[in-house]
Amino acid sequence: MIGIGVGGAEILPAMEALDTIELVAGADVVQTTLDRFKERYPGARIYLSAEELCRDPDVEAVWVSSPNRFHAEHTMLAARYGKHVVVEKPMAISFEQAEQMVEAAERHGVKLLAGHTRAFTLPIRAMRRVIESGRYGKLRALNIWSYSDWMLRPRTPDELGVAQGGGIPHRQGPHQVDTVRLLGGGLLRSVRAQVGQWMSERPIPGYYAAFLEFEDGTPATVVHNGYGYFLGADLVPWGRTGSATPRANGPRSARRCAPDGATKVVRSKRCASVASRNARSFGEPGRVPGCRRTWDWRWPVWIGPTYANPNTGCAFTATRANESSTS
Ligand SMILES: NC(=O)c1ccc[n+]([C@@H]2O[C@H](COP(=O)([O-])OP(=O)(O)OC[C@H]3O[C@@H](n4cnc5c(N)ncnc54)[C@H](O)[C@@H]3O)[C@@H](O)[C@H]2O)c1
Repeated sequence: MIGIGVGGAEILPAMEALDTIELVAGADVVQTTLDRFKERYPGARIYLSAEELCRDPDVEAVWVSSPNRFHAEHTMLAARYGKHVVVEKPMAISFEQAEQMVEAAERHGVKLLAGHTRAFTLPIRAMRRVIESGRYGKLRALNIWSYSDWMLRPRTPDELGVAQGGGIPHRQGPHQVDTVRLLGGGLLRSVRAQVGQWMSERPIPGYYAAFLEFEDGTPATVVHNGYGYFLGADLVPWGRTGSATPRANGPRSARRCAPDGATKVVRSKRCASVASRNARSFGEPGRVPGCRRTWDWRWPVWIGPTYANPNTGCAFTATRANESSTS
């Protein structure tokens, strides 16, 4: 694995669970992260650079989960050393890079997989089975709309630079496009899309809307609004009782626990879930790998460079010197 961050740490348990995968080595630029990884996987070797890992003759395939701006570089590096590659979403941050990656894989005779994960999730696979079965007739249309607070949460500088793979289209678009293509059956006839960039403090696209037409004429829309002051999941009854989603429970608990004062630190379920997500990665507790990100959750709505989401109950101070984030 190259880049043992939040995304990487989500995949490692799956690797561990598969007999067909032997975890040989991990590479990261942060020694603390490597030390924790080594503690958890004593049999694996650790490297401070992607190239060192690629030189390891025992490594046959590489999982690239470094930040977006390195996906092309690390993929082509691994291919050069004859390693097969699975690269996290987004595959690249430009078409040119994606083409170069494919060319590199072909030239060096290795397999390259854009390792999208969303279409593998059980609900999406179940939907695909239902569509394929024809039980409810022909698929007529698909609509995926997401509302999140992605643009309102702490973010690292690279996440706020389009040229580095930041912004909602790069970060969240692959999930929706992967899903809609699986459900709709693959190839498209046309795409029309637009992005929205509505926060002067963060001049990157935080919104997109696209209209896609499949080869057989089936229409699909995909929308992600990263300035959403609520989560799309809050609108959907979930589970056997049709009660609110687990996420929808978060905001209520957050509102309860954030009663007074501008600087009261809020420990909502949602904040706790972020903390626990960080704890599951291999960085320092309270920080995600790279030691670049710290969490500072505060109430209330807006104080200078502080952003808050009154619906989710999570607010934060995102000073320019201390931008913070999760994926
Ligand atoms: N499929 C998913 O659901 C999912 C979820 C989270 C993240 N991701 C993807 O994973 C990638 C990483 O995101 P993240 O949220 O884990 O970020 P992160 O910052 O938590 O992790 C990135 C890791 O890469 C390391 N790194 C940075 N530069 C490196 C370099 N030159 N060589 C080796 N390691 C380097 C960092 O130290 C860090 O540990 C992104 O491309 C993101 O889109 C995918």
